[in-house]
This record gives sequence, C-alpha cells and structure tokens, in this order.
Amino acid sequence: MSIRLDGKATSNQIKAELEKEVSSIKKSGKRPPHLAAVLVGNDGASLTYVGSKVRSCEKIGYDSTLIRLDDTVTQQKLLDTIHKLNNDPGLDGFIVQLPLPKHIDEETVLHAINPDKDVDGFHPTNFGKMALGMETFIPATPFGIMELLRRYKLDISGKHAVVIGRSHIVGRPMSILLSEKGNPGNATVTLTHSRTKNLSEITQKADIVVSALGVPNFLTADMVKQDAVIIDVGITRVPDETHPKGYVIVGDVAYNEVKEKASYITPVPGGVGPMTIAMLLQNTMLAYKRNAS
Ligand code: GUN
Repeated sequence: MSIRLDGKATSNQIKAELEKEVSSIKKSGKRPPHLAAVLVGNDGASLTYVGSKVRSCEKIGYDSTLIRLDDTVTQQKLLDTIHKLNNDPGLDGFIVQLPLPKHIDEETVLHAINPDKDVDGFHPTNFGKMALGMETFIPATPFGIMELLRRYKLDISGKHAVVIGRSHIVGRPMSILLSEKGNPGNATVTLTHSRTKNLSEITQKADIVVSALGVPNFLTADMVKQDAVIIDVGITRVPDETHPKGYVIVGDVAYNEVKEKASYITPVPGGVGPMTIAMLLQNTMLAYKRNAS
C-alpha cells in the first residue's frame, strides 16, 4: 500500500500562503499581482486549464486577464498581442496556452515573450537559467512536482529517477531539476522517450518514476519496482458516456494496480495538475516582486 501524494491539498496550502501575502500587499495600499493568459481557439482541455488558472487568481486576490483569440488568428496578430502585454507596466506575467493552431510557429511565439514576464519559464533565457541552477521562472509542472517532493520530505538524493517523455514543458526540465544540487535533487536521472529501447527494464530499476507521456494507463505494476515513488503527469481525456461530461481524465499510470506496489503515488486527478496551477501563481508572485521593486 502506498501513500497518496495529495496535490490538491498541497496546492491549496500554497494558494493559502499566497493569499495571505496578497492580503498584506493590498493592506499596504499596493496593487496585487496581475497574471494574463492568452488562449487561441476553443480546444476543450485548454479552455478548462486556462479557466482554472483564472479562477485560482481570483480566489487568492490576484488580478487576472483572459485574452481569447480566434483559432484563425494570424501569427502576426498574436505577436502584436504579446508585444502589448510585454509593454504593459501593470501586468507582471502572462502565459500563452499551448498547444497553438498548426499555422502558428510555437517557437517564434514563445521567444517573443519578455523573459521578465515569462511565468511559464519557456523562454530560452529562463530555460537556460533554470539549467544553470540560477533563480528564474521554473516551468510550473516540473516545479510543482519538485515542490510536492519537498513538502512531503521525500529524499531523492542518490536515487535513480526515470523520466518518461522529453517534452520542453515537462520531461526535459524535470530531468534537469531532479539531478540539480539541492533538496529535493541530487538524483541520478535517466530521461527516456519514444526511441528508448526496453523501457520496462529501465523503469523496473527506478526508485522514482515521473511519467509525462500522455498514454492512459501506460505504466503498469509489472513495470515498477517495489516501493518506488510514482509521479503521474498524464491527463488524457478518455470518452466515457456514463460520465456527465462525456469523458473522464485518465493518467499515464494504472493507478489501482501500481498503488499496491509504490511507496508514494500521485492520483489523477488531484495530483500534479493542481500543483501546476499553484506554481504558476508562485511564479507570478516572483514576477510581481521583481516588477514592483
Ligand atoms: N499546455 C499544457 N501545459 C501548459 C503549461 O504549463 N503552460 C502553457 N502555457 N500551456 C500548457
């Protein structure tokens, strides 16, 4: 039997801490932190995520702005919007929700964001700083996982961590952070991906597995070592007519069987997802403090 790493409760704790900070900022007569989100198109999952981000801002007392653009918007119009946000002194940070429509080049867009407002930490300047262990905006999902490990006091020093997936948003930064000097950190990391051979042989040796693949129930009990720590980043919508929404959210990990073998495990939903939002809010507070000073 395993202990559930409760991302929902932990994120609520972080949000309560930030709310307290915002309240004392407001009492001193200053404006609160301000986060904006740009959403292009009507992708259902993106709408849900951005909606949660905006609601969380409102809940803890941040100002928030949602900018919605049609999915036929030109790349230039999106770049113009980014330029305006870059130059708005009353805005501390913003994100452009991914994925973007096919006709828009993601790299061009992300590189157009002012690194000082890039609270997603996707700009090469911030990614480079993160890789060098300098203070910066750390991408919210891997940051949230590190914070969850820290708050549960899980010692990963010297342990073998296996990351599944090499995306720029999760897998790649995760592999860097886990191996970084610090606590949590100092892990020996294997970064696996679609070309990895004999993946099960690698995951079976892992003390900690972070799965960011997006394939429902991919990681089964036979693939993990007894007492491993299991972190599930997967959030795939699987059609389910018995559910009012017509779908259920399913993680990468076959939770019911893996939980019997793991020492600690994140559920889906209620694990990594809420932590991502909490860390975005934390990055926004950092941007605010830099902007206001
Ligand atoms: N799409 C999926 N995850 C993320 C994220 O963390 N930030 C942004 N901007 N888009 C995403």
